[in-house]
Amino acid sequence: MNVQVTSDAPAAIRVSGVDVTYGVGGAEPVRALANVDLDVPGGSFVSLVGPSGCGKSTLLKVVADLMSPTRGVLTIAGEPPSTLRRQGRIGLVFQQANLMPWLKTADNIALLGDLVAGRTGRTKPDRAKVAELIEVVGLKGFEGKHAHQLSGGMQSRVALARALALDPAVLLMDEPFAALDEITRDRMAFELMRIWQLYRKTVLFVTHSLAEAVFLSDKVVLMATRPGRIHQVFDIDLPRPRTHETRLSDRFSQIVAEVNRELYRVMA
Ligand SMILES: Nc1ncnc2c1ncn2[C@@H]1O[C@H](COP(=O)(O)OP(=O)(O)OP(=O)(O)O)[C@@H](O)[C@H]1O
Ligand SMILES: [Mg+2]
Repeated sequence: MNVQVTSDAPAAIRVSGVDVTYGVGGAEPVRALANVDLDVPGGSFVSLVGPSGCGKSTLLKVVADLMSPTRGVLTIAGEPPSTLRRQGRIGLVFQQANLMPWLKTADNIALLGDLVAGRTGRTKPDRAKVAELIEVVGLKGFEGKHAHQLSGGMQSRVALARALALDPAVLLMDEPFAALDEITRDRMAFELMRIWQLYRKTVLFVTHSLAEAVFLSDKVVLMATRPGRIHQVFDIDLPRPRTHETRLSDRFSQIVAEVNRELYRVMA
């Protein structure tokens, strides 16, 4: 397989002094994020974990330029997120794959890239690129199927390939595997790891699973609630490439336990 890795240096994400308050001026404004600083080095894999409501999705949304912060500064590759969003260079993957039911797998993968090309003059993902992505995400033989003919895990693979077809500067993923059964979910974490090692995109990943976060990440960012904020950043020193053995190692269990202990402390 001939994988076309882009020549662009991977984009760093910088978040500095970011506040998000929902319902400003209302009776009960919610401080979803308070003074958040975060550095995601280019090409690294960083996960956000923390109790429900601590602002993980909100942080992802401001990085994706789906909403503006109340205060603070964000950059991706030194540019405001809006610049990259307009160029279609932010890859998004959510819990729901949101595939177009009337399109075949290959067309679902190409769809966003085609739309972005129409708007920005960037080149469309060509057939070779789509074929490469289908192979990379393990969907060979399913390119002609419609969404209802694919399992949940396969739909997740399509959503990931669709995001990668944009050749994104960053990949932002909000609980992408949360709707999957545990076995498929574990499998998808391995697949994501393999694919990330191939393309080395900068990834910001939200999950409720501490084990998933530790397995995948260079850094795990533990957030706390009321107000939503960063509590602690764990550097994950497990060697790469990470394999099934990684998950069985004592060091892996130690790190997961360490993050878990701290999570229970912030929830106390
Ligand atoms: N559109 C909105 N309007 C008002 N409040 C909101 C809005 N979106 C989120 N919130 C509040 O902001 C806080 C952070 O929400 P957010 O969805 O970012 O948390 P989360 O960490 O992603 O939670 P979960 O783990 O349950 O997905 C919560 O208190 C939530 O109720
Ligand atoms: Mg969320």
